[in-house]
Amino acid sequence: MNRDFEFKQLLRAYRSGLITEQTFEQEMANLEAGAETTSGTNGAGGFRAFGKTYANEREAIVAFLDRARVAEANAGIAFNNWANLCKTDCIRSGLRMISERESYHGRMFERRLRELGAECRATLSDDTRKFAEAISDQSLSDNEKLLRFNKLVPDPEAAVKPICEFAEMIKDDLETKEMLKLFYEDELSSTKWLQYACAALNAPAQASQTAQQPSA
Ligand SMILES: [Fe+2]
Repeated sequence: MNRDFEFKQLLRAYRSGLITEQTFEQEMANLEAGAETTSGTNGAGGFRAFGKTYANEREAIVAFLDRARVAEANAGIAFNNWANLCKTDCIRSGLRMISERESYHGRMFERRLRELGAECRATLSDDTRKFAEAISDQSLSDNEKLLRFNKLVPDPEAAVKPICEFAEMIKDDLETKEMLKLFYEDELSSTKWLQYACAALNAPAQASQTAQQPSA
């Protein structure tokens, strides 16, 4: 039976006075314990991750690896394109390092996906494709590209937190779990560095714009 349905039934029974508060609490505890002991699930009739319910942990992992594989591989190419077009010496090699990170994430996720007996099926999301196109565009300046990244990822910690939360939820596939912990660290490092580069390189322009504004 669907766990949400069981919960609603229980709540209805309690509200209509069919069961006491004590019984209600006991039944709720049993329901939660039952969900926790079902292999490969984390409650709610399956495995909840990224706002979706998957049949089990493995399905959630396969879906994540597939989506991340295509996004990371594409970002690897895009950051390399940016590095090749980059006119700001101090960030060029940083962009190359990010490109290498993204590409190896893509390769490792594909490898893990195949080890799990799954296929590569996911395609790029529109947002990922548009961002990759923007940073590969030679008509946009490095500062503009940094600003666009900053707009897309205003809070690096918040942006990568779901990876960490997902890793924490994994109970059976410890190999993927540990891999995702390292992925989280890499992504946090890359996004924080881009945020810092954006602030450092755009600050002088923003300061001069402020200085040029007529005083009220
Ligand atoms: Fe990434």
